[in-house]
Order: sequence, then structure tokens, then C-alpha cells
Amino acid sequence: MSDQGTSPVAPNLHADRPHPARVYDYLLGGKDNFAADRAAAENGLRANPNSRIPPRENRAFLRRVVRYLAREAGIRQFLDIGTGIPTSPNVHEVAQEVAPDARIVYVDNDPMVLVHARALLTSTPTGRTEYIDADLRNVEGLLASPQLRAAIDLDQPVGLLLIAIMHFVGDDDDPYGIVERLRAALPSGSYLALSHLTGDFDAAAWEGVAEVYRRTGVTLQVRSRAEIERFFSGFEMIEPGVQVLPAWRPDDDAGDPPTDAQVSVYGGLGRKP
Ligand SMILES: C[S@@+](CC[C@H](N)C(=O)[O-])C[C@H]1O[C@@H](n2cnc3c(N)ncnc32)[C@H](O)[C@@H]1O
Repeated sequence: MSDQGTSPVAPNLHADRPHPARVYDYLLGGKDNFAADRAAAENGLRANPNSRIPPRENRAFLRRVVRYLAREAGIRQFLDIGTGIPTSPNVHEVAQEVAPDARIVYVDNDPMVLVHARALLTSTPTGRTEYIDADLRNVEGLLASPQLRAAIDLDQPVGLLLIAIMHFVGDDDDPYGIVERLRAALPSGSYLALSHLTGDFDAAAWEGVAEVYRRTGVTLQVRSRAEIERFFSGFEMIEPGVQVLPAWRPDDDAGDPPTDAQVSVYGGLGRKP
């Protein structure tokens, strides 16, 4: 854990204004949120009554894609940026069920996630987990982090997870440059798993949700399928490519999926040639 995690000074949680990790936690039915987060989530639900469906489908996609990476692709190192408040099963629980020696580095910039990071640091004895309190936009600082270097060998394939984070990076912050710099640091045979909100199916509802976030100072930028596919450019897409989440390698026992408009999140997995 970072120095801040071991400091006797509690991090400033900014409880008076909503934070994406805590709003997401509320929408998933979690308890690690404050009144401002609940108010923003309820306003978002008024703008789009389906707002609880994307987080649920997103967690299911995360489980499927991590299991695929560990089981089918043989990935043993994971870099999960935009981890969120711990929600079981977390990445290490899914990966280490397949491969007990899997190593996971979690990264988030929300102080509330830092407060709960201990729940992410419960590795198997042969595996390893680390938590880094860092901002994705400082790619070079993140890649140079001693905790990252201690857990991840950047000469061996890495599973990079950008799950439901890039829609919080507006065009002004160079989202494609950020992802490109991360991808460039990984060796051939690495993977990028990414999911992202879209307005393709219900633009008005998501514009309403983005406006709720904007009023509280949080950027939420939905993107089209083509804009989301661009994050993978140069990577070989694993079948079935970028899809609305329930259509990405559904479990055999998956029931009837929600509609594309209700889900409004695309996800995909690409391999670095
Ligand atoms: C919607 S949650 C997704 C959590 C988890 N990846 C999942 O899919 O269930 C987005 C997370 O990204 C984090 N985040 C947003 N912008 C970030 C940034 N610039 N650097 C690091 N983390 C960021 C938020 O704090 C939040 O925890």
C-alpha cells in the first residue's frame, strides 16, 4: 500500500461531494457511500432509470474476462486500473481461483478505495496483490512505481484491465494517448480488457446522467462503438470483438440478457501482437 495508506492521517474523503467509486458502490447495493453519492445516484436514476444495470453487467463482464485471461490465455499478472471499492469477487479472487500464483496490482485515485484497500490485499500465499493510490493520467509515474515493479515483470505478458474507467477521462485529458502509453509498456502477448459506457442506444438518457455528474464537477463522457474500438487499435481482437457486455462470451447458464439500451456498456479484449 502507498505511504498514504500507512499514514496516521486519514485521507480526505470529500464526503460532501459525489465520487464515481462510491456512486457505483451505491448502484451495486454497497454500503461504502455518503449522502452526496446517494443523491447523485438517485438523480442519475431519475435521468436514466436503468442506471443500476450497467454496474451489474460490468462486474459480470469483469469476472468473465479475468477468468478467460487466467484460464484460456495463461495470464498470471494483472494490472487493474480504476479498481473501485472492493466488491467480491475481486480480480485476485477470480484469477487466483484459476491460478493461485497470479499477481495483481490494483490502482485507483479515490481515497475511499484506499481506505478499503485491505480487502484487496488478501492474496493466496503463492500469489501477490498490491494497491497503488495513483492517477491513471500520470502513466509514467504509475509504471515507475516500486510496488508495480515488485509485483509485475514488464518483460512477461500482462493483463491490463481498464474496466469502466475510461468514460471518466474526457477528451481534454488525452484518453487515447494514455491508453497507448500503457499498451506500449507491455510486451507482446499482453492483453487489454476494456469496458466503456455508450450513448449509442439511448443518447438522451445518458446525456442526462452525464449532466448530473457535470453539475458535481465529475467528467462522464460516453463514447460510440467506433470510439471505443479505437482504444484497441493495433491489437488483435479476441472473438467476438467489442460487444454490448452480455454478448461478450456469456456464461452457459446466463439467463435472458437486458436490452442493449439498458446495458449501454461495450466491452472487449485485445491481444498485443
Ligand atoms: C465505475 S468504477 C469501476 C470499478 C471497477 N473497475 C469495476 O468495473 O467494477 C471507476 C473507478 O475508476 C476510478 N477512477 C476514475 N478516474 C481515475 C483516474 N484518473 N485514475 C485512477 N482511477 C480513476 C474511480 O475512482 C472508480 O473507482
